[in-house]
Amino acid sequence: MYTAAVLTVSDRSFRGQRPDEAGPLVCSLLEEAGYSILETGVVPDEQPDIEAALVRLADQTGAALVVTTGGTGFSPRDVTPEATLAVCERLTPGIPEAMRAASLAITPRAMLSRAAAGIRGGTLIINLPGSPRAALENLEAVLPALEHGLKMLLGGPADCTSAFS
Ligand code: MTE
Repeated sequence: MYTAAVLTVSDRSFRGQRPDEAGPLVCSLLEEAGYSILETGVVPDEQPDIEAALVRLADQTGAALVVTTGGTGFSPRDVTPEATLAVCERLTPGIPEAMRAASLAITPRAMLSRAAAGIRGGTLIINLPGSPRAALENLEAVLPALEHGLKMLLGGPADCTSAFS
């Protein structure tokens, strides 16, 4: 079982003007997949706030996986990918590539997500879009491969010769 934290990035949810729907749904999907949720949070679409939350979740909670939802589009206030890239030491481009590839089979608007993913210390950080449906569709696309990646990240014996475990 791996640990996870979920960060919702939304001005309106932060101000209490819109309930956070995506965050709890992402938590449920992660829990169904066997993850233990250590912490959840909501921050506004402000790059310093997002960076501070990501650094704290990665460095202090010790979560193996931090998933964000929201702020990956083209609106001037969508800066979640920039915050993520700023705090990650190594990028994992295959994860957003896989999310967009799977999502393009559902909607051409999938190409509008600028989601990023990367590694900070022993934590994998993954951006998801903000709409509840989009967040789940994107997470479902990559969940099956994450455990293998986390196993490698955390120094366990990971058998890459078996493609499906
Ligand atoms: N991916 C999937 N699977 N399903 C969707 O409905 N919506 C797209 C895209 N990715 C979508 C999706 C849209 S319309 C946008 S604008 C971007 O995600 C970014 O969303 P965000 O700004 O809420 O992060």
